[in-house]
Amino acid sequence: MIDLLYKVPDHVAVIMDGNGRWAKRRGLPRVFGHKEGAKAVERTIRIANKAGVKWLSVFAFSTENWGRPEEEVNAIMSLLVEYINTKVPHLKRDNIRLRFMGRRDGLPEMILKSMDEGEKMTQDCDGMNFVVALNYSGKAEIVDAVNKIIKSGVSKIDEKDFAKYLYIPEMPEPDLLIRTSGEKRISNFMLWELAYTELYFTEVLWPDFNEEEFLKALYFYQSRERRFGKVTV
Ligand code: FPP
Repeated sequence: MIDLLYKVPDHVAVIMDGNGRWAKRRGLPRVFGHKEGAKAVERTIRIANKAGVKWLSVFAFSTENWGRPEEEVNAIMSLLVEYINTKVPHLKRDNIRLRFMGRRDGLPEMILKSMDEGEKMTQDCDGMNFVVALNYSGKAEIVDAVNKIIKSGVSKIDEKDFAKYLYIPEMPEPDLLIRTSGEKRISNFMLWELAYTELYFTEVLWPDFNEEEFLKALYFYQSRERRFGKVTV
């Protein structure tokens, strides 16, 4: 099936949604949904890499997510540390570079340590980039960029130069955004970068997301004609 791909997006961004509902439907605590969600992340990395995607980014924890019950926040943080600590050798083996974007302020020390180690261990990998948005907010990213600009003393700037102040300046803008669980919102994810991104929404809950669903999103992308505000001649 993968041979049928002819126009693979360079950057696929994902809003992983529906973990809580997945658990609730099974009468399980929400944390179980996040655990299954972590497995879906692994499947997605594998298929994206196989398909030739160069950047895969996932929205793991927003600045707003701190408002969830403490038990759930702690469980997500522990899952992330566990994920980083156990999966980084696999990422390295597959030549995948792990990166994070978001505000470091407010993240627990144990998480920061794992993040730094994971980034360092994979820094020489030059295959796919796997970006985890953690303590991330699109508005905060823009505000942080503005503050960096003010600090640098620049008094006038255009869009191209502005992008150099975002969290990962070399990251291309997403070609395709996937959001699971039927919600049709951007929810403060990459507000600057999503300007011309194709949006794909699926009813599938994130823990059920698999290779087939990823390929469906890629076929949707292939069927789109991107004009970037211009007309086709
Ligand atoms: C959204 O579902 C999911 C999250 C906010 C957490 C995502 C975190 C993981 C999948 C953990 C592992 C991550 C990595 C990168 C290994 P929700 O809880 O908002 O679901 P609901 O809308 O059904 O309540």
